[in-house]
Amino acid sequence: MIIAVDGPSGSGKSSTARGVADRLGLRFLDTGATYRAVTWSAIQHGLDLDDTAAVAQRARELRLELSTDPLHQYVIADGTDITAAIREPGISERVSKIATNLDVRAELIRRQRAIIDDAQPSGGIVVEGRDIATVVATDAELKVLLTADQEARMARRGAELAVGSITAEQLRDQIVRRDADDSTVSEFQVASDGAVTIDSTFMTLEEVVETISRLATEAVAAA
Ligand code: DC
Repeated sequence: MIIAVDGPSGSGKSSTARGVADRLGLRFLDTGATYRAVTWSAIQHGLDLDDTAAVAQRARELRLELSTDPLHQYVIADGTDITAAIREPGISERVSKIATNLDVRAELIRRQRAIIDDAQPSGGIVVEGRDIATVVATDAELKVLLTADQEARMARRGAELAVGSITAEQLRDQIVRRDADDSTVSEFQVASDGAVTIDSTFMTLEEVVETISRLATEAVAAA
């Protein structure tokens, strides 16, 4: 069983996908964390992030361990626990550059598919990202495109950040810029064949988790 959850930043896809995995007893994969880990490592090695060949080489050499336990997430890169470090603004601001490097994408998609395959004997996995239904796991039993309007996404991102650490204007700029940066990869956020679009603007996290869990149960019953 593979459940693909794609959506833009701040759509709530991470909390949602983790909640669904927990409820259904499935593994969980945050693919954004793989792009963040390569960004962290490239910076750590002092690479020029515009040097696509060097960054791609780093992606191939990186030893990466990602937890797929929805209740205990961690990321270890070359032996260092970077779970918290990859959420820092310095990474969030630069990760789009890494995510538009096609050789990095090829390498990370290969790794993501291996993690997805490994999870199948234990029942399956909920995978969240941008290109899961369209590229990484086109055979997913359930494909969800999670959206929310810009105001709602801003409010959610703002709630995640420390109070006072950023102004509303800075937050809006960040969201708009990241949407624009992310949209440079063509497969993003295109509703793929058979994908269900859920607009979470006026839904609670619990309601979205409930809806996706029900759709997953129906998809399994229909298979
Ligand atoms: O979801 P996130 O904010 O952790 O994603 C970090 C970056 O990685 C963002 O620029 C989008 C990109 N990304 C991607 O290109 N493909 C994915 N499957 C997941 C994330």
